[in-house]
Amino acid sequence: MPDIACVNGRFGSLSDAVINVEDRGFQFGDGVYEVIRTYRGQPFSIKAHLTRLERSAQALQLPLGHEPAQWTSLIDEGLRLSRFPETKIYLQITRGQAPRDHPFPLDLAPTTILTFRELRPLEASVRDAGVKAVTIEDIRWGRCDIKSVNLLANVLARQRAKEAGAFEAILIRGGMVTEGSVSNVVVVRNGAIQTAPEGNKILSGVTRAIVLELARNEGLPVSEDFVSREDLLTASEVFLTGTTVEVLSVVEVDGRAIGDGRPGPMSRLLSARWSALIA
Ligand code: PDD
Repeated sequence: MPDIACVNGRFGSLSDAVINVEDRGFQFGDGVYEVIRTYRGQPFSIKAHLTRLERSAQALQLPLGHEPAQWTSLIDEGLRLSRFPETKIYLQITRGQAPRDHPFPLDLAPTTILTFRELRPLEASVRDAGVKAVTIEDIRWGRCDIKSVNLLANVLARQRAKEAGAFEAILIRGGMVTEGSVSNVVVVRNGAIQTAPEGNKILSGVTRAIVLELARNEGLPVSEDFVSREDLLTASEVFLTGTTVEVLSVVEVDGRAIGDGRPGPMSRLLSARWSALIA
């Protein structure tokens, strides 16, 4: 099956999909997005993703392009056409096309895009061994809660992580951990789970919310408070949450082993609970 795209409601193959060069998404990064994945062929937590898309769009005075029910039926149609075992669904809304000028016309028709590509899960051996991370200064703007397509700081951070042989870049602002370049970061300290609070310094991860709920259901203490870089490095466990990473143990940060250098019990427990949830 070919990869599928849907541009402004029209489906076709991804390789044929085109955007006008004066699209503000292309010229200014003036747009928002979501990444949704399927489990057993069904889009996961679609409502939470569409709610966040709506919130991101509202924060930028962007029209949503389609009503939530239309987004859902476009997703269903794309999945019907692409028929991958599991799919990574990408949604994007940009402000639309206009002669390049920073202020935007208020009556622009937004550009809407969906793409459907095969999702290849992380290899089990990587998941079982855990991954390395490096810390990098968080140089992003002040509204990280908006899932904007302006991802340059995230792109540079992840590239630096890759060049350092690490899987993820853990972002540090004012000495405190905010999140990863593509994930939320959770630590375990003194038997309790700790992660940065929701607000404008992080993206409110759909996976983060579910995993914190799973932890509370297990009776694990959860605190939503910033963790310092020092506390990250001396944590007994560190793990990432996100649509693409699910619950993924970090076993080394900046060359220092976390705990005994293997995925710890709480990460393994929550990862097992996650697997049960999506089975
Ligand atoms: N990223 N933080 C950041 C900066 C992210 O980019 C993401 C997800 C998350 C996790 O959010 P969620 O659990 O809702 O997927 C946290 C997507 C997958 C991406 O940009 O590819």
